[in-house]
Amino acid sequence: MGAQEVREGFVRLYGAEPEGVWAAPGRVNLIGEHTDYNDGFVMPFALPHIAVAAVARRTDGVLRLHSADLDSGVAELRLDELTPESDDAWTAYPAGVVWALREAGHAVTGADIHLSSTVPSGAGLSSSAAIEVVVALALNDLYALGLQGWQLARLCQRAENVYVGAPTGIMDQTASACCEAGHALFLDTRDLSQKQIPLDLAAEGLRLLVVDTQVTHAHSGGEYGKRRAGCEKGAALLGVDALRDIAYADLDAALARLGDEEEVSRLVRHVVTEDQRVEQVVALLESGGDTRAVGPVLTAGHASLRDDFRVSCAELDLVVDTALAHGALGARMTGGGFGGSAIVLAEATDVETLTKAVEEAFAAAGHKAPRVFEAVPAAGARRLG
Ligand code: GLA
Repeated sequence: MGAQEVREGFVRLYGAEPEGVWAAPGRVNLIGEHTDYNDGFVMPFALPHIAVAAVARRTDGVLRLHSADLDSGVAELRLDELTPESDDAWTAYPAGVVWALREAGHAVTGADIHLSSTVPSGAGLSSSAAIEVVVALALNDLYALGLQGWQLARLCQRAENVYVGAPTGIMDQTASACCEAGHALFLDTRDLSQKQIPLDLAAEGLRLLVVDTQVTHAHSGGEYGKRRAGCEKGAALLGVDALRDIAYADLDAALARLGDEEEVSRLVRHVVTEDQRVEQVVALLESGGDTRAVGPVLTAGHASLRDDFRVSCAELDLVVDTALAHGALGARMTGGGFGGSAIVLAEATDVETLTKAVEEAFAAAGHKAPRVFEAVPAAGARRLG
């Protein structure tokens, strides 16, 4: 849906012109999974799929929210009544952002918001972060708050952690707020320092496919929190602030110290090796060498998420195994796991065969048909008009 359509939707709904229209993208993560809440490294890039918001300020302490994608009508909330974990509908994301801005002392006095999104929801592609960031950016502009992308990301993460009640890290919001077209974002989630890494796969005859398995496992919320708690236990047992502080060279010694803490050891091994894989991919991409060398690193990341971190599922494993059996250079699940999407790095010339093979494997296994599309690094959040 384009800016004009969302603007017109706003006018029909609220009977006045919006003050502007903004966009924020979903993301795919190239490498660095379940590292962000361990103060580690990630490397996402923005998708062309975006959440678009038409917004106007109000001065009466009222927040009106509407989504063009749902049938749920206009929600009307009073800003002074916004309460963490009181809302389990989609409105918790935009309302949470307004709550977080006000909590941080920003004088937001109300808004009318009309939203529409092309980011597939439940696909592990950060549809919620896109909604949070587009609302944060719009209010930042309209209320002249002067916040930078990384600051908006922090506020959006707070909205999600405290207001929505999901214990996620900072990757998705930062990716949506800070990514640049043609680049992957190398992000240190400890201090949010960033480096834009050029990523032009087509120039090397390569493609990156996203395969949305269209499955979301019901227990994903609780399992995510358990992994996070396990990582925090590991850091505490090892006497560090976060698992990021265990150097790859010290991994064996750390595992020896964990002794018979089998589950924690697996989690620690994943996080420490995954941080190392992000650094490897950055080095490969920055060396200007052949990007094909990134493939095996992605595949090793999947094995670690499947066997050590245990957040994969049959459908994600099937995408990875089938893609690799049909010539993919590398493949892995992306995002939180337990369903959602996988990415596949492949020669452009292999895309058709590969896609067909994955579709056939899903049909043969009795799974719902996957959605496959090519991902090219797109722009981060921005004002459209
Ligand atoms: C979800 C969370 C992120 C991150 C990933 C796993 O997408 O929102 O913060 O933890 O899972 O890498």
